[in-house]
Amino acid sequence: MTSIPVMAIDGPAASGKGAVAQAIAERLGFHYLDSGAIYRAAALAVVQSGKNIDSPDLSDTEVADIAAHMRLSFKSDEIWLSNQNITDAIRTEACGNNASKIAVLPKLRQALLELQRNFRRVPGLVAEGRDMGTVVFPDARLKIYLTASAPVRAERRYKQLMEKGINANMGDLLNEIEQRDARDLSRSVAPLRSGDDTITIDTTTLDLARSIEAVLKFYHAANRM
Ligand code: DC
Repeated sequence: MTSIPVMAIDGPAASGKGAVAQAIAERLGFHYLDSGAIYRAAALAVVQSGKNIDSPDLSDTEVADIAAHMRLSFKSDEIWLSNQNITDAIRTEACGNNASKIAVLPKLRQALLELQRNFRRVPGLVAEGRDMGTVVFPDARLKIYLTASAPVRAERRYKQLMEKGINANMGDLLNEIEQRDARDLSRSVAPLRSGDDTITIDTTTLDLARSIEAVLKFYHAANRM
């Protein structure tokens, strides 16, 4: 199992890690894990169960239990929760924020570990999120921390939403990104951070193609060692 190569790509919200990871998985013929989608699906399942994510009484055990019993399936570009196609529903900023709020719960994180590790299949995996290199796949062959300045990330998110025909406000997006960064960086369990064995790539001035090339260069170098 552990001989199956993993490339871990972590980074803050809207850093472009999704687009980079997906393109690299395709290029290498590897499987792809969008771990954020799993946290988003768990947040949706919690909301649909009638629980208030903002309540101080929200129980880690109950949330972990809901997540452990989710029937999630990944069908090419679609994500299903039981018989519900949640592909678009989990992409809203509200769902991303809810995911970030429940992601501080240690039992929930524990409950999602096995599901994420099951994505490790031959010939290899590109996994993206916040703790891929630090917690979920500590033995990843290559660990990348992909980042960009908050205003540039807000602008990229703005363009993405506009392309989908969703109205957005740049100021609000920047606020939300900064709040999410603060929460993801400061939580006590599996905080977003770049480890000693991680290569940081700042994509503030790089477009998608250049970001992909930068990551691939490190991957090929790691394989030569
Ligand atoms: O990558 P994303 O924006 O889709 O992730 C949504 C939230 O889920 C993110 O703000 C924090 C949480 N998350 C996490 O805690 N650990 C991961 N590996 C992936 C996402």
